[in-house]
Amino acid sequence: MDKQQAEKRAAELREQINYHNYRYYVLDDPVISDAEYDRMLAELQEIESAYPELLTPDSPTQRIGAPPKDELGTVTRRLPMMSLQSAFDEEAVRNFVENCIEGAGEEIEFVAEPKLDGLAVELVYANGVLTIASTRGDGINGEDVTENVRTINSVPLRLLDNEIDIPPLVEVRGEVYMRLSEFDKLNQRRRGEEEPAFANPRNAAAGSLRQLDSKITAQRPLAFFAYDTGTVAGREFATHWELLQTLPEWGFVVNEHIRLCEDVGDILEYHAEMEEKREGLDYEIDGIVLKVNQLPAREMLGVRSRNPRWALAYKFPPRQETTRVVDIEASVGRLGAVTPIAIVEPTQIGGVTVRNLSLHNQDEVDRHDVRIGDTVIIERAGDVIPHLVKVIEEKRPPGSRAYKLPKNCPVCGSETVRPEGDVVVRCPNFNCPAQIEGRLEHFAARGAMDIEGMGEKLARQFVREGLVKRLPELYQLTKEQLLQLEGFADISAENLLAAIGGSRQTTLARLLYGLSIPHVGEHVADVLASAFGTIEAVRGASAEVLEEVNEIGPEIAQSVVGFFANEENARTVDELLEAGVTIAVPEKKGDTLAGLTFVFTGTLENYTREGAQHAVEELGARAASSVTNKTDYVVAGEATGSKYVKARDLGITILTEKQFTELLERSNKG
Ligand code: IVH
Repeated sequence: MDKQQAEKRAAELREQINYHNYRYYVLDDPVISDAEYDRMLAELQEIESAYPELLTPDSPTQRIGAPPKDELGTVTRRLPMMSLQSAFDEEAVRNFVENCIEGAGEEIEFVAEPKLDGLAVELVYANGVLTIASTRGDGINGEDVTENVRTINSVPLRLLDNEIDIPPLVEVRGEVYMRLSEFDKLNQRRRGEEEPAFANPRNAAAGSLRQLDSKITAQRPLAFFAYDTGTVAGREFATHWELLQTLPEWGFVVNEHIRLCEDVGDILEYHAEMEEKREGLDYEIDGIVLKVNQLPAREMLGVRSRNPRWALAYKFPPRQETTRVVDIEASVGRLGAVTPIAIVEPTQIGGVTVRNLSLHNQDEVDRHDVRIGDTVIIERAGDVIPHLVKVIEEKRPPGSRAYKLPKNCPVCGSETVRPEGDVVVRCPNFNCPAQIEGRLEHFAARGAMDIEGMGEKLARQFVREGLVKRLPELYQLTKEQLLQLEGFADISAENLLAAIGGSRQTTLARLLYGLSIPHVGEHVADVLASAFGTIEAVRGASAEVLEEVNEIGPEIAQSVVGFFANEENARTVDELLEAGVTIAVPEKKGDTLAGLTFVFTGTLENYTREGAQHAVEELGARAASSVTNKTDYVVAGEATGSKYVKARDLGITILTEKQFTELLERSNKG
């Protein structure tokens, strides 16, 4: 291909990819397979690396981030970004509506929108191409976050022209935010990598957007809702509603919960409805925003200090509540961790009744100095889990004492231990009933032995009724025993026994995970199983040998060695094997793929998921369940989801089914 052809082809590809990106991220309605999308992107990348001078700022290849900077520059805006007057009650809303009607000089309506809890940015499009993106800053001067914003998939790099002419200058304003589901995943990943978790999605979005290294931003799941414009040259709108209809035509996502309201009644109804819907949304909102719809009326109303008179934020009551700590209990987990739990007077927060909240550990109790009888403020933030915000010391009853976790396990009475440098206090008794209950529940869980129908409730029943004191006893349960328990009849007992029996056929990874070895989660269990193949090999491995495995550090290695060195644990494993627990050993055909990690996503036409995993394992590779930066290949079938997006964001090689088959064929020969 000569340069002229390359230029033409690159332009074609960019247009197509930008369009399909829009179908995928904005309309949520893709019209091509992910594999096809991928091929186009790869072809474009190839052209751009052959002819770097052909690279353009609106190229979809630019979403992966640019070289890091020393500091974020400043952008001075044409029109200031204003802030909103807040209202907290009906009366303030009525006043606002009246004032607007009085000052408007014409019939008006209001547009009601969710008040999104992220951070405001302005995007400047010159001749349709995204050229500058900035944060709000002081309204006039913001931070230059152009490179970072380019990595956000729901921000168009070039405006779509849907048969209409694009104005030469378009400034679009809106909110950068993080979905709650993505926020939870991000925090989980960070905890796993021992990085501090973000306090809430807003902080996570802000921290991600203001990165000096846009490659980091590219790995953060940010999204964008458009709700306003700055300057739009050569295009007049009569109403805000008309603008909100036009933004999607240019390729932006406008929130779906916008509504035209005629009067206060409509507005109050909308507010109440949104407050209810709030719980089901995958992003945080903290109220509604009311805007006069008619733009000429806005001119009439004008601005007072930085707030437009034509807009109002009507906030929801905060999700914080005040309650009283009636007791503090110590709860014992499956690994023996003794956790202080505050039992509070039942309190409604955002539609959920909170009865207790974890205080995490003694250090946290000390930090807040929370005591029985204290009045406290609690909050439900981004994560659904409620937490303590602060103690109101003024309301503390006289004679209260600082809370200390008991020196003995509250369940079995063993003296607790607090290993050096650890914040967690533990019950050292492996046979403590609380630990057994927790381990039994975990053993049966989906990622472990996967015993259908067996959860927390049954685990508790089995332990409390004395039927299961140690894991292997699960396999000795009889129908007669089950029938004596509350809630069991002939069929349910038989079903459960069948499920327990069926769990005997398992994999090494499931068994290792199910054993509740400290620091061995699903992923580490996968790694150990692939590296060692048999339970005997894992048991026999020294800390040094374990540490030779990629991803296994000293802490995990020590934990594994310590676990199997314990006699009770060793006996448990022996008895499980005697009870018929059988590990399917993947037969090895070779090691041509040794050291590589594969993740499968979507449905493959010619393989089952297990079959495909088995095929790479036979050749020495590891099949993992989630995409991390250690993943080498992601094999994408039809209807892929978040794994695919993540792989793309991380720049991991994505194989189509055909490419995967070819790779297997080559590897089987070699
Ligand atoms: S319009 C004058 N619409 O609220 C118009 N703002 O205090 C101001 N916000 O920093 C912006 N959702 O981050 C507008 N649907 C919405 C909004 C919204 C959230 C935030 C925005 C801004 C703050 C204004």
